[in-house]
Amino acid sequence: MIHLQKIRKSYPSETDSGLVLGFEDWQVESGGQVALIGESGSGKTTLLNLLSGLVSPDTGVVSIDGTDLAKLSEAQRDRFRADNIGYVFQSFHLLDGYSVKENVELGAVFAKKHAEPGRAEHLLEAVGLGHRLEHTPRQLSVGQQARVAFARALMNKPNLLLADEPTGSLDHENGRQVLDLLLSTARESGITVVCATHDMDVSAAFDSTVRVEDLK
Ligand SMILES: Nc1ncnc2c1ncn2[C@@H]1O[C@H](COP(=O)(O)OP(=O)(O)OP(=O)(O)O)[C@@H](O)[C@H]1O
Ligand SMILES: [Mg+2]
Repeated sequence: MIHLQKIRKSYPSETDSGLVLGFEDWQVESGGQVALIGESGSGKTTLLNLLSGLVSPDTGVVSIDGTDLAKLSEAQRDRFRADNIGYVFQSFHLLDGYSVKENVELGAVFAKKHAEPGRAEHLLEAVGLGHRLEHTPRQLSVGQQARVAFARALMNKPNLLLADEPTGSLDHENGRQVLDLLLSTARESGITVVCATHDMDVSAAFDSTVRVEDLK
């Protein structure tokens, strides 16, 4: 379960306090699928970064499956993320010097549980890219790149999948397919999903929708 308490996160400037997030309490049940919506600049990416431990709150507790991220050293947080969290970044962050298969394998390099041989191929087949293993990301369409990013995020068998507008750069049909795949895979494996999106059609596919502004 995700549990955030008394959170404040600001990026102060000379002219204002820069408060981005400030709320009392927010929980997501294990296995829940939550869409995070809100205006551009409302703090969706910031909230996902807090959940992943990539960013720390000014004050408050971020607890993931009973682990208070602030109680971990930076190295332990990196380890925790590698073992428990999958992240689909908005711009995918695929590495062009590596093949599609290698990009997916990188998703488990730092994880404690060593991925069984063939897992990357298996995941890529599941996302419909079994025939593109040796291509580089640049040789793929944007929709295909989204599928690679998704496969990579699953490589370490995460308990929590964070996705930052994963369908933002896809046309409606491709976006739908990637989203259906993401939600059905997560549901089958009991993975908790928090997904930022601008798209109301997208958010309708989730169990619940949270408007970031309403958390304040
Ligand atoms: N590293 C940073 N330094 C200073 N300000 C930041 C930083 N990261 C985010 N912000 C500010 O925090 C606010 C929220 O940003 P965030 O990226 O979380 O919004 P968002 O809801 O994801 O927006 P979008 O829908 O455009 O992706 C913005 O006002 C932004 O300028
Ligand atoms: Mg964002």
